[in-house]
Amino acid sequence: MSDRTPKRIAAGNWKMNGLSAELAEAEALAAAFPAPAASVLLCPPATLLAPMAQALAGSAIGLGGQDCHAAEKGAHTGDIAALMLADAGAGHVILGHSERRAHHGETDAQVAAKLRAAWAAGLTGIVCLGETAAERAAGRTLEVVGAQLAGSLPPGATAANTVIAYEPVWAIGSGQTPTPEEIVEVHAFLRQNAPDPAISLLYGGSVNPGNAAQIFAIAGVDGALVGGASLKAVDFGAIVTALLAA
Ligand code: PGA
Repeated sequence: MSDRTPKRIAAGNWKMNGLSAELAEAEALAAAFPAPAASVLLCPPATLLAPMAQALAGSAIGLGGQDCHAAEKGAHTGDIAALMLADAGAGHVILGHSERRAHHGETDAQVAAKLRAAWAAGLTGIVCLGETAAERAAGRTLEVVGAQLAGSLPPGATAANTVIAYEPVWAIGSGQTPTPEEIVEVHAFLRQNAPDPAISLLYGGSVNPGNAAQIFAIAGVDGALVGGASLKAVDFGAIVTALLAA
């Protein structure tokens, strides 16, 4: 526990997008923000981690993976270990993204096991939580998010090893965002229930250059996890600029 101020973070989740040619976007971002007063991260596909680390050597832009296995190594064809992400230059890893939960059936317990593996490899986990449209319509948002929080963070989660991203499933890639009041409610709930009050709480879901300033002005929002708008340095750069101005 601590009373430190949560770190401000802008993290870009490239998802399954990005070939070598797109390394130029990372280089452009690094050139635009040589020493940002916030953590700026790119989470490219695993194939681009090592070359992006090389391209960004000496820059202030950090790198993250998008998932890791709970085991240290072994017979898990197609999976990636946390230590491999760290070895390729990552300092963070996104865990429990709703696309992993929905498409790969990831449970809270699995996310917690992956977070432990991430910590063991020296990585900070960015744990994603969020309700579906049906759950929100049923008035179950805090219940769902609360259960995900309790189940996905093992004992030992602190601001030094964990970031939480509130990402309503219905807001991801949809162009829809919650109202500021809805974001305030969930972030206040997360702040109250997180194991360390200094854990950074990011909002994610259709953040773009047009709405970033409004989102960063919301009480309790320490930054953003950005999907589509993180692919282009000019768009993600505008979001970083909004965070730095907030
Ligand atoms: P989006 O994705 O910004 O494209 O909505 C956010 C995310 O899934 O992390």
